[in-house]
Amino acid sequence: MTARPRLTVIGTGYLGATHAICMAVMGFEVLGVDVDTSKIEKLTAGEVPFFEPGLPELLAKALESGRLRFTSDFREAAAFGDVHFLCVGTPQQADSEAADLRYVDAAVTSLAPHLTRRTLVVGKSTVPVGTAARLAELLRTTAPAGDQVELAWNPEFLREGFAVDDTMKPDRLVFGVTSAWAQEQLRAAFGPVIAQDVPVKVTDLQTAELVKVAANSFLATKISYINAMAEVCEATGADVHDLAEALAYDERIGGKFLRPGLGFGGGCLPKDIRAFAHRAEELGVGQAVGFLREIDGINRRRRARTVDLVVELCAGDVAGKRVAALGAAFKPNSDDIRDAPALDVAATLHRMGAVVTVFDPAALDNARRVHPELGYATSALDAARDADVVVLLTEWNEFREISPSAMAAVVRRTRIVDGRHALVPAHWAAAGWDYRALGRPAVH
Ligand code: UGA
Repeated sequence: MTARPRLTVIGTGYLGATHAICMAVMGFEVLGVDVDTSKIEKLTAGEVPFFEPGLPELLAKALESGRLRFTSDFREAAAFGDVHFLCVGTPQQADSEAADLRYVDAAVTSLAPHLTRRTLVVGKSTVPVGTAARLAELLRTTAPAGDQVELAWNPEFLREGFAVDDTMKPDRLVFGVTSAWAQEQLRAAFGPVIAQDVPVKVTDLQTAELVKVAANSFLATKISYINAMAEVCEATGADVHDLAEALAYDERIGGKFLRPGLGFGGGCLPKDIRAFAHRAEELGVGQAVGFLREIDGINRRRRARTVDLVVELCAGDVAGKRVAALGAAFKPNSDDIRDAPALDVAATLHRMGAVVTVFDPAALDNARRVHPELGYATSALDAARDADVVVLLTEWNEFREISPSAMAAVVRRTRIVDGRHALVPAHWAAAGWDYRALGRPAVH
């Protein structure tokens, strides 16, 4: 058994860069691999190509230790690594709900011809169940070392914004393996993590693949469940905020992922539930997870309902009205705008004729690139200047700290939609604001 296997991490996007950096900090020799040379150049120069608290400091530390390097050369990767982690993206296909596996396939076909000795390839990407078995066969048949190359599956559960902690001390490790040797290699590769009493669940490849999509589906279901209750609250004058708090006291339900509002976005939850529903249909068990389509539908309706609230506050017509949109990222502490509910709402209001000005503490550059049609400001107050309505779309802490009276002094009309239940309604009402939130009675 290898005491300290040398690791490669193929794909240096969000997941791969975090994994490579954290593994090097934990003492492993790590080689990050990516076909995108601009990412390689940035990381080699000590620059993290995305926003993640704590990661730039750890990259500096890892580079300084001499244990972390980056390359675009798969031959070099194969010669270096004892364990190869596949961390490439599996986005939604452009014209279907299925996952696009072209990057996973390309990583395996680029690496396999250079694998000439006993090696473990470990998939971390989120894939449709059955992919690992197919890739294992592809490796066996295309690697010169043949049967000596094994595949394992080790799904990743990190959250953006908490990526370092989630990697260094995850809730659990899941090892999908087909041999005792593969399990030994994984235990060696995660030695420092396991030493912190992190539970390890060892299983087969297909169960490991499923754990990931089952977890994300459950989380999405929890969010849409409370947002479905918000819809009912809206029809009855009840308050979903109080309802959620009351539910959370029941330990069987718990309060986590029960925050009502604009719903989920990002590069994971939305595409994962769609790809799972699609895969289940292919397997003939579509009915079993048919509810995921409802979950998706409830989630999409929250965005539409937020737009409706803004329109209502503008007496039925937003054309020509100035809207201050606070937030662009799909969640706070991230600059990620993939399937961001915030930008969806802002862009819809713009299409309806509103003059939308966006501010986000981290995601402005990304937002500007994808939505050049929107206006952008350099602070929340700047965005709110002369606004007819303010809409909070991403719950950054700095938005919670906004003084309602300071903002009242710069807007044209004191009307606010709190799309994330981030503010204290009474504080805003006391400063003269008409406060609206999804699933809550109006306060003014
Ligand atoms: C999610 C999972 O939480 C991770 O465990 C998983 O590893 C990751 O996807 C992935 O598959 O890679 P992430 O997308 O970073 O992580 O973000 P979350 O914290 O899960 O938030 C997702 C969305 O749900 C955000 O838009 C957030 O605003 C929303 N959300 C979350 C709510 O609307 N209500 C809540 O109560 C919680």
